[in-house]
Amino acid sequence: MFGAVLILAAAAVTVTVHAQPSPDVQKGIAKAIKNAKNGGKVTDFTAFVNPFIGTDNFGDVCPGASVPFGMVKVTTDNTGYAPAGYVADNTQFIQGVSPLHDSGTGSSLGSYGNFKIMPQFCPGGFNTCKTILSQRQRLRKNNTDFASPGYFAQTLDNDIKIEATATRRAALERFTFPEGTPFFSVDLGNDSPLSFGGGSLDFDPAAGRIKIGGRWRPSFGPSLFFYQAFACYDILDNGKQTLGEFGVWTADNFGMDAKALGQTHLNLSINLIGSSPYQSGALFSLAGNPSEVNIRVGVSFVSADQACQNAETEIGMSSFEEIQDLAVSQWNDKLSRIELDVARSAPNITEIFYSSYYRSFLTPNNATGEGSGAFAGTTSPYFDSLYCSWDTFRTWAPLLSLTSPVDYAEVVENYIDGWRKNGVIPECRSNQLPGWTQGGSDGTNILADFAVKYHAEAASLGVDLNEMFTALLSDGEENPPEWNTGGRQINVYKAHGFVPFAAFDATSTGRQTREGSRTLEYAMNDFGIRQVAQVLGHADEVTTYTNRSTWFKNVWDPTVKSDGFEGFMQKRFGNGTFKNLNPVDCSPLDTNSSRACSLTQDNQNGFYESSSWEYSFFAPQDMATLVDLMGGNETFVKRLDHFFNKGYYLAGNEPSFGTPSAYHYADHPAKSVQRGRQVLFENFDITAGGLPGNDDQAAMATFAAFHILGLFPIPSTTQFLLISPFVPSYTVHNPHLGVSTTVTVDGFDPASVKRKIPDGAAAYVANVTVNGVPSVTGRCFIDFFDTFKKGGNITITVTSNMDEADSCEGSLPDSLSTGGWASAR
Ligand SMILES: *[C@@H]1O[C@H](CO)[C@@H](O)[C@H](O)[C@H]1NC(C)=O
Ligand SMILES: *[C@@H]1O[C@H](CO)[C@@H](O)[C@H](O)[C@H]1NC(C)=O
Ligand SMILES: *[C@@H]1O[C@H](CO)[C@@H](O)[C@H](O)[C@H]1NC(C)=O
Ligand SMILES: *[C@@H]1O[C@H](CO)[C@@H](O)[C@H](O)[C@H]1NC(C)=O
Ligand SMILES: *[C@@H]1O[C@H](CO)[C@@H](O)[C@H](O)[C@H]1NC(C)=O
Ligand SMILES: *[C@@H]1O[C@H](CO)[C@@H](O)[C@H](O)[C@H]1NC(C)=O
Ligand SMILES: *[C@@H]1O[C@H](CO)[C@@H](O)[C@H](O)[C@H]1NC(C)=O
Ligand SMILES: *[C@@H]1O[C@H](CO)[C@@H](O)[C@H](O)[C@H]1NC(C)=O
Ligand SMILES: *[C@@H]1O[C@H](CO)[C@@H](O)[C@H](O)[C@H]1NC(C)=O
Ligand SMILES: *[C@@H]1O[C@H](CO)[C@@H](O)[C@H](O)[C@H]1NC(C)=O
Repeated sequence: MFGAVLILAAAAVTVTVHAQPSPDVQKGIAKAIKNAKNGGKVTDFTAFVNPFIGTDNFGDVCPGASVPFGMVKVTTDNTGYAPAGYVADNTQFIQGVSPLHDSGTGSSLGSYGNFKIMPQFCPGGFNTCKTILSQRQRLRKNNTDFASPGYFAQTLDNDIKIEATATRRAALERFTFPEGTPFFSVDLGNDSPLSFGGGSLDFDPAAGRIKIGGRWRPSFGPSLFFYQAFACYDILDNGKQTLGEFGVWTADNFGMDAKALGQTHLNLSINLIGSSPYQSGALFSLAGNPSEVNIRVGVSFVSADQACQNAETEIGMSSFEEIQDLAVSQWNDKLSRIELDVARSAPNITEIFYSSYYRSFLTPNNATGEGSGAFAGTTSPYFDSLYCSWDTFRTWAPLLSLTSPVDYAEVVENYIDGWRKNGVIPECRSNQLPGWTQGGSDGTNILADFAVKYHAEAASLGVDLNEMFTALLSDGEENPPEWNTGGRQINVYKAHGFVPFAAFDATSTGRQTREGSRTLEYAMNDFGIRQVAQVLGHADEVTTYTNRSTWFKNVWDPTVKSDGFEGFMQKRFGNGTFKNLNPVDCSPLDTNSSRACSLTQDNQNGFYESSSWEYSFFAPQDMATLVDLMGGNETFVKRLDHFFNKGYYLAGNEPSFGTPSAYHYADHPAKSVQRGRQVLFENFDITAGGLPGNDDQAAMATFAAFHILGLFPIPSTTQFLLISPFVPSYTVHNPHLGVSTTVTVDGFDPASVKRKIPDGAAAYVANVTVNGVPSVTGRCFIDFFDTFKKGGNITITVTSNMDEADSCEGSLPDSLSTGGWASAR
């Protein structure tokens, strides 16, 4: 999300290497890998994770301390463009440490960052403390930021060290002061987007407890609405610390600096004058000059009392180390589900893989028991930050499906519950509120992917497939009066067979843009519905939705030419006439830097954050038709080559995800192998700037992880394209099913793990066996039910002879138009 916009903006900026994080992060990982290479048994998979990948160059990754799917991701909040709070850029200032963050979301304003606490020295006592952000902010010491799963640390330039660890809804923070009296300011109002809409703070000096609650605006949705959030700070470390001075403050950037020693209450309503809200909070010191201070904070979206309870039940009297150990063991439970052969894999690949796999469990945020508004008291699992399904349906959900049906079922039930409560399947829930819909209603494909793989287990995992189908049909048939934040513009889509441009629609309201890309996505959404109808045996709906799945063809304009290629997707008037626009518009090669390509009404090009060049390859459900439309296998391959070579490809943008492996559909799988290697090495590495754009809630992470595994998922289906693993072997564990699957690359050549596969290096898939017999689906793809669902062995024999391997030997991956997906598995 916002990917393309940021990339276009960032293209001109040189990436600078910042003096963060600490070299110890890389040293620790290198040591763990070396140990594995020396024959050590791998027991701690967190040792391979670098949480700082994606914290520079607009990756928007949160390196904060978290547990898997943690609602709390505790890190410091930095000045500048820092949607996740932290950035590696050490020219940015630290304004406090706070418990709530999202990871990898591209909101330009930032998300959460509420309830900051800032340690400081106030040598002249209470009245000399700096309270507002601009005065209290500090730089950090170079080369000191450190993080590992469940742990975050940073040292300010005044030598105060901040450490944090987390549970799902609480954090434990340890501050080490080199000398003097520790002072802390705690914010009532300042979140990252500075969107405070009123709230209150109560300081109970006897209990050493500060309760805070208020309302803020979402980071990616209509600013009309507010979400509520609460925190509970316990500042006396279960009686081991003694309160010194305390009170509250209000201040601004124009000279006001009011402190009230001994006062304990703040209650502010929304400030209607001026764009920047006033800043207020609590201020306190601890007596006796302790050098180490422990502070516990619980958060809740329900109430301040629940925030206190969350801290009590999840942390209680436990020590920092105990909570950190608990977090590490939860991470190992997840990360050990895919075991790479670390001993024989390239160290950078191991690090990219486990860091990516880690981030895949960092989102969405598990806010179960914390629903508010329509979700108050819901008995379903509740997840915050589905941000956006447009990003996550392609690779994030399919990666979860490999190992973690229990987690996936909870996410699915949460989507169904979203429909139950709001009448639409959530598309981009951000800060608990409906966020902007970017294209289609892509939650449909997240539900469908689960249903096709786990229909036999669904009921026992708490998912009612019949209810899911009702929700899907509602998405496919019912036109919400307002589709900007959920659902689709169904009536006109059904009437025309595409989303028309400039057509009168009396039945629904929404921003009338992106007609080309919305049509392509609506067709993919319809395919998701078709797949679930097939699983449930609803023949009529299979017919209807199979037809609708092919409507992407309806925006194909065969007459448009670009760079010698003929035929592109285009937006289309209601009368059927195409609105001809240059397919290059909104691509990286667009020379018009002021063109609008995103959600605003002046986006005229018909595609969202993308060009027609890019989106014209998007029909995962029926790639065979695209190959035909584009003029057959050889032209299709030429066009893909041109797409990459000329620079239309945008690795950091989700609609491009399927293009590196699209050669499969033109019967040139070996070309997908070459392109996959190139794309990974050109766009991903182990540095803080090592992502091609914002992680988009682990969309980038899971794209990279799949390429390393040599697979690419076709969402809402049980098929995975076989590319070529970057590692000699790995084992995928599915603890719920009780099965493990080992993938072995026979003939693996480490020399092939490069941007350009050298001549003579084996990397191309010659043949594939599953449990000792030749794969029934050939060498271009595998089916979940034949492999990961059953467990066992997959042996992929690779060859250096590209020509010998560059065909699917008559077994192309499925496409609807060639009879694909004829029956449910
Ligand atoms: C960090 O290093 C840069 C030079 O690379 C220097 O300008 C800056 O002052 C240093 N920051 C601190 C806090 O020492
Ligand atoms: C804050 O003030 C408002 C308006 O006076 C009042 O309704 C509300 O109860 C107060 N809240 C707290 C927590 O004191
Ligand atoms: C979310 O939290 C609830 C409550 O602690 C827990 O039961 C559930 O397993 C969690 N879900 C995931 C996916 O971790
Ligand atoms: C399939 O969709 C087209 C619109 O593209 C429509 O004209 C046709 O009637 C549909 N066919 C069936 C069998 O539903
Ligand atoms: C269709 O509508 C567009 C926009 O009003 C118009 O420019 C075009 O000429 C129309 N085409 C036909 C065939 O009437
Ligand atoms: C750039 O694109 C915008 C439309 O978004 C258009 O108004 C403007 O004229 C274009 N500029 C040039 C130089 O083509
Ligand atoms: C592409 O190649 C496949 C496999 O050889 C073949 O079945 C198909 O007909 C070809 N498609 C076109 C449009 O040439
Ligand atoms: C590993 O990554 C680092 C940082 O991107 C790079 O400098 C180094 O060359 C890479 N090593 C290999 C063997 O690719
Ligand atoms: C598999 O591929 C390898 C390498 O090309 C070849 O030597 C072997 O004979 C093939 N096996 C089968 C069963 O086709
Ligand atoms: C997988 O391979 C291992 C090692 O060769 C073997 O012990 C096991 O029986 C195989 N499993 C299946 C299901 O073929």
